[in-house]
Amino acid sequence: AAAEKGGYPSFMEKEIHDQPAAVADTLLGRADAQGRLTLDELRIDAAELKDVTKIIVLACGTSAYAGSVAKYAIEHWCRIPVEVELSHEFRYRDPIVDANTLIVSISQSGETMDTLMAVRYAKEQGAKTLSICNTNGSTIPRESDAVLYTHAGPEIAVASTKAFLAQITATYLLGLYLAQLRGNLFTGQIKDILADLHEIPAQIQEVLDREGEIKDLARSMSDAESVLFLGRHVGYPVAMEGALKLKEIAYIHAEGFAAGELKHGPIALIDDGQPVFVVVPSPRGRHSLHSKVVSNIQEVRARGAKTLVIAEAGDDAVRDYAEFVFYVPQTPTLLMPLLATVPLQIFACELATAKGFDVDQPRNLAKSVTVE
Ligand code: G6P
Repeated sequence: AAAEKGGYPSFMEKEIHDQPAAVADTLLGRADAQGRLTLDELRIDAAELKDVTKIIVLACGTSAYAGSVAKYAIEHWCRIPVEVELSHEFRYRDPIVDANTLIVSISQSGETMDTLMAVRYAKEQGAKTLSICNTNGSTIPRESDAVLYTHAGPEIAVASTKAFLAQITATYLLGLYLAQLRGNLFTGQIKDILADLHEIPAQIQEVLDREGEIKDLARSMSDAESVLFLGRHVGYPVAMEGALKLKEIAYIHAEGFAAGELKHGPIALIDDGQPVFVVVPSPRGRHSLHSKVVSNIQEVRARGAKTLVIAEAGDDAVRDYAEFVFYVPQTPTLLMPLLATVPLQIFACELATAKGFDVDQPRNLAKSVTVE
């Protein structure tokens, strides 16, 4: 078993360290040298994809947060409305789907019953179904019209890590492919985004090389009773995922919030010493939300919060307001989740380990939930 874990104490830790490869392998062979995406494996007619007027992403758990990240990118690049819904909620609300609706299901296992039932239902209603899946030949891709596999390799730990980054990567390839088909982006633009994506594996490795910083923080916080996570834009689903990891394996109460929502309720939770992670967007870029998030950090800090900041390398402005800062390498805002999630995974894994829990087999949870 030690060999299977690649020398790491747990599958989860191994899988966190597999992430540069998970992203690189998911990108591999999906574009030619000119930067044209070639998703021939999709086995769906390009003409059919061109006519899509709405996308609904269906998933559960971590996979649903990958969908929430995807919404920002696909709407921005393709100008197609994207809804993201939990599979079990979609199925029972009389949703509006037709032949021009593309259902994108996201599932690591390909066997999650809630997602399978939602896909079947959407198909019955005449929608086109595309599966993003990490498990070759599993039920959801078999029952879908099209499939785009993530190449994260087998994920053993119950709490998902490398599959999440591979799912975001795959949805981005899909978004770029749709933009290419529909002419929403120029070839040069797609090529530039692909080049940035190809930088990501080495940048994840840079984060992993500095994991000691976040592990020290995690060990120092092993008696935390509640941890809050804030983010805006793509940082919002990253915050949700950071909170989910902590609930799943460290059994600590954790919540992710949209930072802009703070003043509408969550800020009442802040009192002395409350730890709050804040995912800060890049200060570069024209429509930067950076200053808004920095104000949010100040607001919670003024009420006693212990502010733990994930920011972009070079962002010195956050230092004055943070108890702790972890810097991730520079990348365009849309790609930041592929880097900013990693320290939050390490944090949860190390904190749960410090508490003596089995991070691979958390209580009450299953890797693949095959009942509704
Ligand atoms: C379970 C797992 C989660 C996973 C979710 C969806 O709850 O514990 O880690 O995110 O199912 O699984 P899927 O295989 O459909 O991605």
